[in-house]
Amino acid sequence: MNPCDIIRKKRFGGELNEKEIRAFVDGAVDGSFADYQVSALLMAICINGMSDRETLALTLAMAKSGDTLDLSDVPGVKADKHSTGGVGDTTSLILVPLVACCGVKMAKMSGRGLGFTGGTLDKLESIPGMSIEKDIEGFKQQVREVGCAIIGQTARLAPADKVLYGLRDVTATVDCLPLIVSSILSKKLAAGCDVVVLDVKTGSGALMDTEEKSRQLAETMVRIGNMSGKRFSALITDMDQPLGSYIGNALEVEEAIGVLSGNIDGPLKDVSLTLGAHILHNSGAVESVEAGIALLNEKIKNGEGLKKFSEMIAAQGGDPRVAYDTGLLPKAKYHIDVTADRDGYVTAMRTDDLGNAAKRLGAGRERKTDALDLSVGLVMKVRVGDKVRKGDVLCTLHAGDGSDRIGAHNLVHKSILIGDARPAPKPLIRAVVT
Ligand code: URA
Ligand code: CA
Repeated sequence: MNPCDIIRKKRFGGELNEKEIRAFVDGAVDGSFADYQVSALLMAICINGMSDRETLALTLAMAKSGDTLDLSDVPGVKADKHSTGGVGDTTSLILVPLVACCGVKMAKMSGRGLGFTGGTLDKLESIPGMSIEKDIEGFKQQVREVGCAIIGQTARLAPADKVLYGLRDVTATVDCLPLIVSSILSKKLAAGCDVVVLDVKTGSGALMDTEEKSRQLAETMVRIGNMSGKRFSALITDMDQPLGSYIGNALEVEEAIGVLSGNIDGPLKDVSLTLGAHILHNSGAVESVEAGIALLNEKIKNGEGLKKFSEMIAAQGGDPRVAYDTGLLPKAKYHIDVTADRDGYVTAMRTDDLGNAAKRLGAGRERKTDALDLSVGLVMKVRVGDKVRKGDVLCTLHAGDGSDRIGAHNLVHKSILIGDARPAPKPLIRAVVT
């Protein structure tokens, strides 16, 4: 098939058929389409959009571009969760062991990616000895025996996404609905789970900054995901401020353990349990989302969730005592307070810049090859709406010798806005899409 014919058809707003989409995806992976031809088609897709039929065909072609996992020999319902990414967003470490305690298997593969903090895999690697590498048989065996696993996705999972994302990143075509949908869903479909819950963030620290765009992304992903034959649902949740109070790799593990121990309540716990309850409900394990939340709370109270987390750590070579003693996690050398320079109310946060500040300390990557300091990050002391007095601590930086401490301090200071009027509270969970 001639690449130019496919590009021309999309350029003039035509609907590509399955064969043309498969030729494009295969050509991108095997190199028979040149990068400039793939890029031209990506731009035409950005400008003219894709129908649901096209988006589904693109998603399936990308999912089939490499290995696809067959989890049918793992008994029970297998579930997965995906977040579009945020700051202080540690829900996976909390809901994965809790859901596993309720009999639904959590088989989670995460990508490395770039971000404000390193991502789930880096967080797990801050646990001494913990490995996120396992072959497929080992992964399935752990899911069978422990009930949950979180590992790095293999290089052979949806390789088309790596090629397309690499080109999108350098051609201003990342921000395009059908391309985002197919990128996320192709990896979820290739990973072989029956039930998938999506956490679509909205606000100043999110992929989609407005609620309207977030809703469109959530609805499209659920619609296309369900067309593929799996059970998808999505929550749209607030990212106008960090979800948890801890931002950084070991710091987020510590906060997750705090929630699993029953010592930390608040938004991070609420979103984690709501996502987990949707998984339980869609898996048929409970009658309602409310019953799911109650059951997950029970697993915190009776200690089963924390015990399951320690079993998952042990199964992946880590020190399971960490679950009961966070003193074993790496600790930052310096603690530096950022304080309020006036009285007032916290009116808003520039959440993306709080993430960037954590990155400056060494918690996240600019380039794929950047080394992380797993001990560093931010501990937020306030939330939007809090009353503060001049001199109150807003945030404590956890820094190391390699951290840009002054840059991070100034950025955090600029990112927490203080004004005279208490802002109206916004709901944490904006919408549920099923
Ligand atoms: N996350 C992905 O995996 N892909 C996108 O295109 C955007 C966010
Ligand atoms: Ca994340």
